[in-house]
Amino acid sequence: MSEPGAGPVYATRRFTFSAAHRYWRREWSPEENRRAFGALTTVHGHNYTLEVTIRGAVDERTGMVMDLAELKRVVGEAVIQRFDHADLNDDALFSGVIPTTENLARTIWDLLGPKLGPDRLWRIRLWEDPTFHVEYYGP
Ligand code: NI
Repeated sequence: MSEPGAGPVYATRRFTFSAAHRYWRREWSPEENRRAFGALTTVHGHNYTLEVTIRGAVDERTGMVMDLAELKRVVGEAVIQRFDHADLNDDALFSGVIPTTENLARTIWDLLGPKLGPDRLWRIRLWEDPTFHVEYYGP
């Protein structure tokens, strides 16, 4: 009997949440905002899909990289409860920061990194809709 390969395994769990946002810089004139962001200056919503990937060695006793219930709890408390059915522009994390999918992915990393451990959190992949997603691998 032999153990399988000793390298790290990457495990991903998918979450969904719905949130509203608009793209608008307060220090710009309405004309400048419309030129830069077009229709995105109007409040609208997205059904986001968030994929959180954990990297680690498999615990030989459990056969798992991470307790999935723990991952679900951490992401639920830190991200889903905060952003689901929220207006992202009202969140203090986006005061002065436009809540683009890019910035939202980086913000989610910053929320999860300290809780999951920067060595264990490998990738945030955030889908704004079925045609567009961003990936962030941390600083
Ligand atoms: Ni949008």
